[in-house]
Amino acid sequence: MKRVLSGIQPSGKLHWGNYLGAIKQYIELQADHDCFYFIANYHALTTVQDADRMRELTRDVALDCLALGLDPERAKLFRQSDVPEVAELTWILASVTGKGLLDRAHAFKAKVAEGLSPSLGLYFYPVLMAADILIYRSHLVPVGQDQVQHIEMAQDMAGYFNGTYHTDVLVRPESKLNNAPTAPGIDGRKMSKSYGNTIELFAPAKQTRKRIMSIVTDSTPVEAPKDPNACNVMALLRLVADETEVAEWEQRYRAGGMGYGEAKKRLAELFEQTFGPARERRAELERDPDTVEDVLVTCGRAARAVAQEVMEGVRAACGIVTGGRSGEERH
Ligand code: ADP
Ligand code: TRP
Repeated sequence: MKRVLSGIQPSGKLHWGNYLGAIKQYIELQADHDCFYFIANYHALTTVQDADRMRELTRDVALDCLALGLDPERAKLFRQSDVPEVAELTWILASVTGKGLLDRAHAFKAKVAEGLSPSLGLYFYPVLMAADILIYRSHLVPVGQDQVQHIEMAQDMAGYFNGTYHTDVLVRPESKLNNAPTAPGIDGRKMSKSYGNTIELFAPAKQTRKRIMSIVTDSTPVEAPKDPNACNVMALLRLVADETEVAEWEQRYRAGGMGYGEAKKRLAELFEQTFGPARERRAELERDPDTVEDVLVTCGRAARAVAQEVMEGVRAACGIVTGGRSGEERH
């Protein structure tokens, strides 16, 4: 069975775009793959620099994923930091990687162009991401288009390490591009926590409904025909309603005599149908923090066992001897 791996950053509340573009596929893949999903708390350190918030957001991602149907019997859900060897591999990979590779990272360059003054951590991010992938000998990494370059870098780094040390201990991963279209936020731009335009997955039902009702539309009067291809509500409906229903709405838009409010109400209803039961499951899990912690710890141990084995091979290949530590772990 192919090993699938992905990381979810605990850097904000999960939103509908994250679900449609990532989490939904992660859950589907657990049916027929060996899935490793981790909460990327080391990555989030570049943006979340408050301990209580880091703890809260980390816990939130775990609750969200379990409530949405990630099944720890079939997929491992764990904290990145429960496998500290990943930081060790980051350094080892950095030592065989030319700086020019990181200088070419689009995501980093885009952030700098936006005026952000970058930390070394942000610059180094693709190396940590490569270590995340390579330490579990992952075959497939499901990602959106924005992350493809980072996977290519992980492929390069696996090649640099294996080439330098004449080994095949690191496995070349492949990206599994999801073709999910980008979900628009309530203002019509890409739904993103950095734009403040998200529809959160687990806000209270009433608040979510209000948020959906506030999606920006134009001022075409109720009686007038409307363009279904130029409407943010319709763009979201297309992502969640079935084909027959989408066709019906398109017809109603073109015919006129329908207000945008009607389409918004239906969108809110569809949201509630999908996420209402998950909200209840999440509330139950929240009352049982020990169970959630158990899942993270058990899965973390299983993931760490894989990572430790790979690291034995990596250390042996490059001549790093850690007698005390590996001795301790062996017994
Ligand atoms: P944000 O833009 O809110 O910061 P992230 O960049 O952390 O979200 O994205 C996490 C995952 O969710 C990525 O796999 C990304 O491709 C997916 N994703 C984020 N926003 C959307 C969206 N609007 N539509 C589809 N997928 C999205
Ligand atoms: N960089 C990814 C994001 O921002 C999260 C991530 C960290 C990741 N490590 C990874 C994704 C390894 C896939 C594989 O969404």
